[in-house]
Amino acid sequence: MSSTSLLIRRARILLPDGQFLFGDVQTQGQEIIQVAPKISSSEAHEINAEGLTLLPGIIDPQVHFREPGLEHKEDLLTASKACVRGGVTSFLEMPNTHPLTTTQAALDDKLKRAAQKCLVNYGFFIGATAENLPDLLTANPTPGIKIFMGSMHGPLLVDTEEKLEPIFAKGKRLIAVHAENQACIDQRKQEFAGITDPAIHSQIQNNEVALLATKMALKLSKKYQRRLHILHTSTGDEAELLRLDKPSWITAEVTPQHLLLNTSAYEKIGTLAQMNPPVKSARDNEILWQALLDGVIDFIATDHAPHTLAEKAKGYPNTPSGMPGVETSLPLMLTQAIQGKCTIAQVSHWMSTAVAQGYGIPKKGAIAPGFDADLVLVDLDNYRPVLREELMTKCGWSPFEGWNLTGWPVVTIVGGQIVFNRGEINSEVHGQALKFLAT
Ligand code: DOR
Repeated sequence: MSSTSLLIRRARILLPDGQFLFGDVQTQGQEIIQVAPKISSSEAHEINAEGLTLLPGIIDPQVHFREPGLEHKEDLLTASKACVRGGVTSFLEMPNTHPLTTTQAALDDKLKRAAQKCLVNYGFFIGATAENLPDLLTANPTPGIKIFMGSMHGPLLVDTEEKLEPIFAKGKRLIAVHAENQACIDQRKQEFAGITDPAIHSQIQNNEVALLATKMALKLSKKYQRRLHILHTSTGDEAELLRLDKPSWITAEVTPQHLLLNTSAYEKIGTLAQMNPPVKSARDNEILWQALLDGVIDFIATDHAPHTLAEKAKGYPNTPSGMPGVETSLPLMLTQAIQGKCTIAQVSHWMSTAVAQGYGIPKKGAIAPGFDADLVLVDLDNYRPVLREELMTKCGWSPFEGWNLTGWPVVTIVGGQIVFNRGEINSEVHGQALKFLAT
């Protein structure tokens, strides 16, 4: 734990009420201790933030960081480096690693690895199988239970009402669902068998596939008043359903790629656009945006799911689904804000404040005394393209290569320590295990 004091000077600071203050922020150890127009301190390490905007660090609530077992795609250190370059100071990671995170022992192993390797703060979901209800009830610490209702093989697939119901019926902790209907996917895969154009992926796992599963999750959540989070909402149909009928204990998220990419992406980047749930139409982009702006969708996650270029070159349908995201999500969304689609305060709310609230993560998501000093200074005056050679993710590619973006992080601070500074990474910094009040 650091006892350093930082003094961030002359920043444009985003305050919790969405207003900006031109001024200074002082940290002591891992906390913010003062926010004011001018702070004088001779002891603190000063950061000149003139011309830069200070935001609460991003909390990415859905990532796949591949350790243990799939480290040829990514590991906790390379993922951490990508996080800090993207202004992500905390992440919640998914259980489809090898071994699967379905027991306390597997969860403990991830926490131990993270304590040694992570430059940012971390939390790990416990994965549901049809058999591990006792583990789901007691696993700790965890943001919640991840259920793959579809798009997954092996024990992590929990795809029928019969298997889902006991998980919703017992316990109170948050359930996060990947909502795609597996029976429907299987049937449509047979219908479209033999087609090697990756664009068919979005037709196989179409809007109906997602809607059926989301309806089932909503039905069970309402029956048991069970805290439910719908991961990576991908269709206008789900957004419209949630607009009509979303009890207070249900939240939903969307990814930047489901807002900004659609089926036209296959022509340009082929299987690099392949993910689950697949990208949909331009009309779906629009409805998802509106749902986010209206508060029907609560927050943003990347679903960072790296695969190597060799794996992505295998040819559809032998290519794995998934794309990296932590390095580009904040500049992508801030570029949207600068171009008038939304405000900077909304981006910060969706990518930090609302996530902390939704998962009950204390002391995160705001720039105010007493909050953790997880911060990112971004440059909103200059544009830079996404360049493959600059990426930190081990997979070494991005679906957004060539996109000209503003809002790139200049300095990223985790727990009061500078971990990313104008391109340089300090690998000596250690993140901490997140706490979850809600579970
Ligand atoms: O596209 C995806 N890839 N969606 C998922 O749900 C899993 C992920 C992965 O782990 O590769």
